[in-house]
Amino acid sequence: MKKDQILRCLREEDEKQLESLWQSADKVRRETVGDAVHLRGLIEFSNYCVRQCGYCGLRAERTDLPRYRMTQDEILDCARRAREFGYGTVVLQSGEDWGIKADWLAETIRAIKQETSLAVTLSVGERNEDEYRLWKQAGADRYLLRFETSNPELYARIHPNRGKTISDRLAILKLLRTLGYEIGSGVMIGIPGQTFDDLANDIALFAELDLDMIGVGPFIPHPETPLANEPLTQDQVPNTEAMTYKVVALTRLVCPQANIPSTTALATLNLAQGRELGLSRGANVIMPNLTPVQYRASYEIYPSKACIKETAEQCRHCLKKRIESIGRTVGIGPGPRQSARKP
Ligand code: 5AD
Ligand code: FES
Repeated sequence: MKKDQILRCLREEDEKQLESLWQSADKVRRETVGDAVHLRGLIEFSNYCVRQCGYCGLRAERTDLPRYRMTQDEILDCARRAREFGYGTVVLQSGEDWGIKADWLAETIRAIKQETSLAVTLSVGERNEDEYRLWKQAGADRYLLRFETSNPELYARIHPNRGKTISDRLAILKLLRTLGYEIGSGVMIGIPGQTFDDLANDIALFAELDLDMIGVGPFIPHPETPLANEPLTQDQVPNTEAMTYKVVALTRLVCPQANIPSTTALATLNLAQGRELGLSRGANVIMPNLTPVQYRASYEIYPSKACIKETAEQCRHCLKKRIESIGRTVGIGPGPRQSARKP
């Protein structure tokens, strides 16, 4: 797909044309990755963060937010639940928490692998090569790091460097790939200052990076962050549900084999139908929350996040019902990596 075609689809408003976009994406999804929806249990194990991202409610400057770091035992308990629930993967996610020592995380990964043999995905931000290597050797399989936007000026504005270290997530993704990780990335949709052209470039970049997993979700303003009050740009991308479906569908067309989650941010915009519509317009993965309920409200990346009060058990049942209601099946095991499925 050429960039001008992507742009045209992003600007499309005609209901009939959009319906045909949803159908093409759904068809490609069915033919490439099938009907199984893979469940990846999310463990938000620390909300400490050293960074000052303009969009994120966990940013260091938020001294009003109660901070927590789960113990190894608590994390292992969540992993056991994942296994019990039949999830194939756990995703260990945190703020960029340098209080998490590399050895401690390596030990945690090893313990999960030993006891459960689940696939382990890490999403702990920008760390060092030695740490990434150590975690890979400990058994980690995948790494998620969204590049957030392909526009370098916009990126620099919303994601300030940490001290003298330049934040180069594209270079990190490349490094992670070399170290043997399956890599996942993605962007937010409707960041103040993001133009249609930027978003079309993001989607084109997905294909170039040959990602195993691509997560896209609407930007949801958090009132306690600077980006909630930023002016919009000319040709601003709206942070809407409709725009999110367009990006999910186009991502499927551009990266037919990728694992694409129907994200929590999308479910937050439409609690009743968001997850199902995402799955019907290109997505094939859902990330149910396994975080113990007492911590969930503090992992407040953005406000009114879906599933903040539901227990892991409730989410499991809810999602199974939702998946089956649209004629899809719950995937078994970790699910193949996208590059392994390539013809
Ligand atoms: N709205 C939507 N998504 C957000 N993220 C962070 N803050 C927000 C927000 N306000 C996304 C980022 C990050 C992922 C973990 O959550 O893309 O990479
Ligand atoms: Fe958590 Fe539906 S997925 S309540």
